[in-house]
Amino acid sequence: MERFKRADPELNNMPRYEDISHVDQRTAELSRARQSLLEEIEAIMFYDERASATKDETLKAVMEHNRDDEKEHFSLLLEWLRRNDPELERELRENLFSKKPMENLGD
Ligand SMILES: [Fe+2]
Repeated sequence: MERFKRADPELNNMPRYEDISHVDQRTAELSRARQSLLEEIEAIMFYDERASATKDETLKAVMEHNRDDEKEHFSLLLEWLRRNDPELERELRENLFSKKPMENLGD
């Protein structure tokens, strides 16, 4: 994909959609965190599928342990984003841990 071809040492070769010279520092930091969040979700998926697929019970336990570590990484990034993206914080407060039925959440 085109977005993976650009390399910028300022953002450690992070994929992006705009030229770095057009992006302010706050947006760049949010992009770092959001890209990392995507990578943690991807890692959770990899480990979960591999744990499911392996026939080796010891390897399965390692994969499950690693998968759950990635969930911690995900939650730390989400917390950073919550603290740095007021609109995201508002949405999380409205929807996370709600007792409402799923069909009643959101606008
Ligand atoms: Fe991780």
